[in-house]
Amino acid sequence: MSNPSLLILPGDGIGPEVMAEVRKIIDWYGAKGGLTFDVTEDLVGGCAYDKHGVPLADATMAKAQEVDAVLLGAVGGPKYDNLDFSVKPERGLLRLRKEMDLFANLRPAQCFDALADFSSLKKDIVAGLDIMIVRELTSGIYFGEPRGIFEEGNERVGINTQRYTESEIDRVARAAFELAMKRGKKLCSMEKANVMESGILWREVVTKVGEDYPEVALSHMYADAGAMQLVRAPKQFDVIVTDNLFGDLLSDAAAMLTGSLGMLPSASLGAPMANGRPKALYEPVHGSAPDIAGQGKANPIACILSFAMALRYSFDQGAEADRVEAAVEKVLADGLRTADLLGEEGVQPVSTSQMGDAVVAALDASL
Ligand code: NAD
Ligand code: IPM
Ligand code: MN
Repeated sequence: MSNPSLLILPGDGIGPEVMAEVRKIIDWYGAKGGLTFDVTEDLVGGCAYDKHGVPLADATMAKAQEVDAVLLGAVGGPKYDNLDFSVKPERGLLRLRKEMDLFANLRPAQCFDALADFSSLKKDIVAGLDIMIVRELTSGIYFGEPRGIFEEGNERVGINTQRYTESEIDRVARAAFELAMKRGKKLCSMEKANVMESGILWREVVTKVGEDYPEVALSHMYADAGAMQLVRAPKQFDVIVTDNLFGDLLSDAAAMLTGSLGMLPSASLGAPMANGRPKALYEPVHGSAPDIAGQGKANPIACILSFAMALRYSFDQGAEADRVEAAVEKVLADGLRTADLLGEEGVQPVSTSQMGDAVVAALDASL
C-alpha cells in the first residue's frame, strides 16, 4: 500500500514558522515512529498571491482534492490588507473549505493541567475542561447570496446573507451527534431562533436529527447566552454545534479558556472519499499573527495538535494522536512556555523551534 499523502500549505506570517515544527514531527514519524507520509508543499494566501496573482492557484486546489489530508498554517497579513476582496489571502482558505466541501469544523478546547493557572478565568472554572465546538464551515453568512456592496440611492449598502438549507443543517448536526456519541453524549446547539428564521430552521432540523440519537442529551441555547455560559461555566458543555459565524466567534472565545489562541487546533471534515477517509483539512484556529511573525515567538502547539487530529481523523492512528498529545502535555508540565504563555513563576521561556524540539524529545522518550 502506498504511503498516506499530505499536502502542506504553510501560508503567511507565523504559518511557516509553526509548520516547520510540525515537519519535525512528521520527520520523526518517518525515522522512528513507523509512519511515513508522502508530503508535498505548496502556497496559499498572500504568498500564493505574490507568486500567482491569486491566493490559491487552480493546480494547488486540484492537489488538495487528491491528497488524503491537507495541513494549513495560516493566511493573511497587513501587506495584503488593501488587495481587492476577491484576491485577499483569506479567500484562498475559504475556497479550499468550500470546494473540498468541508462542512464540519471540529474545534476542541482542552485545558491542559499545566495551563489551568494561566487562563484569564479562575482555575477551577477551566481545570479539566474538554469541549468540542462543531462549526458549520461551508455555508451561512460566509457564503450566502446576495452579497456585495451596492449603490442604493445616494449611499452604498453592504449585504451578506445568512442562508441554511435543511440538508446543510442535517449533515453538520449528524457529525456533531456522532462525536457526542463518542464523548460525553451531550450536545448543545446554538443559534438565534428568537430573531432569525435560519435559527428557527436550525433548531427544528437539529431536533429532528436528534431523534436518531436518543442516547444524546440535546439542548438548545441562543448563541449570545451561549457565549456568556462559555465563559461563566464552560465545563457544562460537551459538544456544541453552531453555524459558521457564531462558531468562528465562540471558538476564539473558547481558545482563551485554554490559555492561548496558540493552543487551539482544528479539523475540517467533509464527506468520505473513495478510500473511506473523509476529505480533510487541519489547521490551527489562530491566524498569521503579524505582530509576532519572524521573531521565533509563535506557539507551534496549535499546529502540532492539528497534526494529531489528522492522525486521529484521517489516518486511523488514534494511539499516535494520543502520543503526540501526551508529548505536548509533558513539555507543558515540564514548564516550557512560548511567549504567549509567559507570566507565571518558574516557567522556562522557549522559542518556537525549541518548543518543537522539546515535543520531538518527548516523542522519543515515549518509545
Ligand atoms: P491572529 O490569530 O493572527 O492573532 C491574534 C493574537 O493572537 C495576536 O496577538 C497574535 O500574536 C496572537 N497569536 C495568534 N496565534 C499565536 C500563536 N500561535 N502563538 C502566539 N501568539 C499567537 O488574529 P488576527 O490578528 O485577528 O489576524 C491576523 C491575520 O490572520 C488576518 O489577516 C486574519 O484574516 C488572518 N487569520 C487567518 C486565519 C487562518 O489562516 N485560519 C485565522 C484567523 C485570522
Ligand atoms: C478562522 C478564520 C477564518 C474564518 C478567516 C481567516 C477566513 O478567522 O479560521 O477562524 O473567518 O473562518
Ligand atoms: Mn476565526
